[in-house]
This record gives sequence, C-alpha cells and structure tokens, in this order.
Amino acid sequence: MSRINGFPFPFTKNQYAYSNDSVLLDPLKTITVTDDYKSEIELKRKLLHKHHDRCFRSLPLSIESQWETLLLIFSELASRKPDSFIFEKKGNECFFQNHFFEEEVTFLFRDASTIDLEPLDLVGRHVQEDLIIMGDRHDGLFLEAGQLCFPSNWSLAFVQGMEFKSIHSPVPGIQSDGFIQKVERFISKIRPGTAWERKNWSITVTNKLDTPLETYSEWGKHRKEVTAENAGDLIHLRVEVQRLFRLPMNHDVLFTIHTYLLQLNDLIQNESWLKTFYQNIKTLSEDITEYKGISTYRTELLRFLENHMEKERMER
Ligand code: HEM
Repeated sequence: MSRINGFPFPFTKNQYAYSNDSVLLDPLKTITVTDDYKSEIELKRKLLHKHHDRCFRSLPLSIESQWETLLLIFSELASRKPDSFIFEKKGNECFFQNHFFEEEVTFLFRDASTIDLEPLDLVGRHVQEDLIIMGDRHDGLFLEAGQLCFPSNWSLAFVQGMEFKSIHSPVPGIQSDGFIQKVERFISKIRPGTAWERKNWSITVTNKLDTPLETYSEWGKHRKEVTAENAGDLIHLRVEVQRLFRLPMNHDVLFTIHTYLLQLNDLIQNESWLKTFYQNIKTLSEDITEYKGISTYRTELLRFLENHMEKERMER
C-alpha cells in the first residue's frame, strides 16, 4: 500500500505560520492504531529497555492521572479494535489482552503493587503514541509524566516538571503577542471528556522516528549530506498528530503524539502536495527555518522540488 494513503499531510495553506489550529474531535479519540503498529511497538519497547531514563519520566503526584490514562487507553483500544484488544474491569479487577503480541495483563486498578511498571509506562507500551501528562495546577500546566520514545529534537529529562510557557521558550516568535498564553488558556478551558487535535510538522534527514536531543550528534549530522540529487531518498516529512484530552476524574491533560514519516520520493507522487510543500518551504520565515533545522539544506531541497515540478510540466 502506498505510504501516501492515510498520511496526515499538514499544510492547508501556501505559507506556514504558527497558529493554534486545534480542532474538536468527534467521535472522541486519543490514539490511532495503524498498519505500522507491530513494528513501532517493538521499536518503542526496545528504546524503553535500552534508554529507560531518557524515555520515561514521572513525578509522584502524577500517579492518579497515570491510572486514569491507563483506564482510558485500554478501554479505547478494546472498543475501537475488539479483534485485537480485550479489556475488562470488574470492580477494581482488570484484565487486558493484546492479540498482536499474545500478551495478557491482570492487575488491580490503582494498586501499584500489582503491576511491574508505572501505569503510564505500561499502557504506553501498547500504543504507537508518545504520552504526556500535563498537571493542571492553579498557576499553570506542568509536565508531570511522560513516556516519550519518538521526540522531535527535545528532551523529556530537560522539560520534566516544567511549565507550558517555559517548555515552549525555544520556539521562535511564540512568546510575542501573547500567543503561547492564549494557547495555554485554550488548553485550560478544555472540557472534561473532550479531545482536540492539531498537527505539527518538521523534516528529518533520516527515516528514524526516535530523534531525541540526547542523540542529536548521531542523526543531526546527516543534514549536511542533502543534495538536489539525493533529497528524495534522504528527506522525510515528519508529522505529529497531537491530541489534547481533559481527564474527567483528575482534571489533568493527556497529550498524545502520533508521529508519521513520509519519504520525499513518496510525497512528490501527489502533485498537489508537491506544490503546497514547495510553497511552504520557499516562503518559510528565516527564524522558523533555522529552528526546524532546515537552513543547511533548504536551497538543495527547493532545487529538488523545482526539478520535479518542471518534469511534471514537461510531461503534461
Ligand atoms: C500541552 C501539551 C504540549 C506539550 C507538552 C508541548 C511541548 C512542546 C515541546 C517540547 C516543543 C519543542 C520545544 C523545543 O524546541 O525544545 C514544542 C514545540 C511547539 N509547540 Fe508545543 N506542546 C504542547 C501543546 C502545544 C499546543 C496546543 C500548541 C498550539 C499552538 C503548541 C505549539 C507548538 C509549536 C508551534 C511548537 C514549535 C514546533 C516546530 O516548529 O517544530 N504546542 N511543544
């Protein structure tokens, strides 16, 4: 099946600017199971095994919201994919089955002694999404727990315990005009039991999902290798489908991030995507180009895209 099918192409206009483009989700969902489920879960579990400290962090006060997240996600998996997952809860006795891996878990809800991992660390091993819990305190939203295997150049260890505005301080221009305060107010008003979705995009010069800040020296160096000739193979559009959900019992916010990669050679098969992507890269402001790490190869990337658009014109 073509990689294009189902890819969440993020551009709706020809010029990109940061905006709070979140949309209300109806029907409600916090996670999505795709054809890459098995391989991505295997990769996640490998990363968690080798680099647990990098991929999982929690503060003790997040524990109730972690349990609530576990209950929500196990229930959602079972109701949306009943052939692949089963979840039963009788009183506090819980049973979860994952047919992809022939696994079963039995535990008592809110009894930490009945599971080997923290609840968020357990449930995160059954979904492709990275999972973040933002504690909603009287003075702001704080990152209180996270299972993060596929970050786009950021570090969970660095932002653990940080407030929403400080987390976003490296993003250019986002503090001006009170933009980030408005986003925070929007999140603080999300009603219990409702979910919102937005997309974020970046570009990677590898097909790796795990690009944490901690290993930048391994994957970041490939940015220098891009030429107009090899861009189609090397460059991948990376899209994060991000969902925000207000946990009804604890009133904290669950933030889920599902990461998709599309090789440029696949993207250009869609003529309209090729043109829109080209326009967005061409007109991207210098500060965002720099922040997203595109500056080194933007000229080569544009040449590659122009060559393809020219080829298409000739063939018409
Ligand atoms: C509440 C959950 C959220 C968390 C935990 C979060 C976290 C982050 C982090 C860690 C970064 C990378 C910062 C860095 O470079 O070190 C980031 C980037 C960013 N975030 Fe958020 N974010 C959240 C929600 C939102 C929402 C709702 C918006 C809506 C506008 C938003 C807008 C952005 C933008 C525009 C960037 C820059 C992305 C880029 O250009 O690649 N974030 N966020």
